[in-house]
Amino acid sequence: MLREGVSMNTTFLDACGKKEPLHTPVWFMRQAGRYLPSYRAMKANRSVMDIARDPTLASQVVVDAVNALDVDAGIIFADIMLPLEGMGVEFKIEENVGPVVTRPIRTAEDVNSLRALSPQEDVGYVFDGIEATLQKLDDSVPLIGFSGAPFTLAGYIVEGRPSRDLEKTKQMMYGDPETWHRLMSALTRMVSTYLAAQVSHGVDAVQLFDSWVGCLSPSDYEKYVFEYTKTIMRSLGGKVPRIHFCANSSSLFEQFIGTGPDVLSVDWRLPISEAWNRSKGRAGIQGNLDPVLALAGGESMRREVGSILEQSIGHLGHVFSLGHGVLRDTPPENLRGIVKAVHETTRQRA
Ligand code: CP3
Repeated sequence: MLREGVSMNTTFLDACGKKEPLHTPVWFMRQAGRYLPSYRAMKANRSVMDIARDPTLASQVVVDAVNALDVDAGIIFADIMLPLEGMGVEFKIEENVGPVVTRPIRTAEDVNSLRALSPQEDVGYVFDGIEATLQKLDDSVPLIGFSGAPFTLAGYIVEGRPSRDLEKTKQMMYGDPETWHRLMSALTRMVSTYLAAQVSHGVDAVQLFDSWVGCLSPSDYEKYVFEYTKTIMRSLGGKVPRIHFCANSSSLFEQFIGTGPDVLSVDWRLPISEAWNRSKGRAGIQGNLDPVLALAGGESMRREVGSILEQSIGHLGHVFSLGHGVLRDTPPENLRGIVKAVHETTRQRA
């Protein structure tokens, strides 16, 4: 819905749709975060939840990040944990730790007690935030919505706090598959409903964060996760571009593609040339600079940005990004340098 005389920067949506963009689009996971002075100022006397629940503040951090970096897309300010509250899961986001759940979900009874999400009642503030953000962006760049994926959400609510090995989660998966499948079904329904509501409130694309699923083997992914992710992807098919994100998961690449995303986000552990070869045109590729290179800056960073672009020549569907979120001590000027280099290099080629 463009206003007359105003044209949106469509490079991100063009790339997602495998059309030739004016330049390769760039955005960063956690682009609205602690590395940005304007965000730190807002965080001085507030929590992530305070900001997320206030549409005026939430929309402001999105737009501040877009303006500070000149990126080609914004991402809504929320957290993957928010809709879980509507299902009856109480949690806090602890500074420097992450989400901590008051009563973890471990048994069949716990799973049975989960409620279905009522989007408007439970997370109406997210949709108000989307509307406020769209208004502030004023059709300058597209807005990405997101949700955690069922496995990663299960990881947080079963463990009760961030965990490297997800022992308890996998223990439920192997030891009580019936309860596991009921939990994943409930989360899949929630995620599909939540993302559909974000789309109906105007987000232009969605990203599904399955941040921790890289801890599974391909055969376990097939048995315990694949169908759920595929169901979510299918439920959004044809509406907006769908991006699938996971880090540290090269061995699951083909299966992620099989779930049907428009774009697959990969990290630096997989050379992007290999991602292009393995995708075989089935999905665009997002990535894949190491966030530590963005932190370090300098010649190493510039060289790797150049190399990623070089390896992506001739491939439609490249969305330039980091392999994971922006690290807290990253100088904003490094990110601005990346955006500028990607835009200039790829514009010259067009
Ligand atoms: O700019 C953006 O990327 C949008 C905002 C956003 C937040 N969380 C706000 C937030 C997004 C996209 C998320 C997603 C999210 N949240 C994920 C998936 C992405 C990933 O990194 O794999 C996960 C796993 C979470 C859960 C979570 N929330 C963690 C692990 C943390 C970090 C805790 C810490 O202090 O280091 C949070 C807190 C959080 N959510 C922050 C932000 C900007 C950082 C803390 C803060 O600003 O106080």
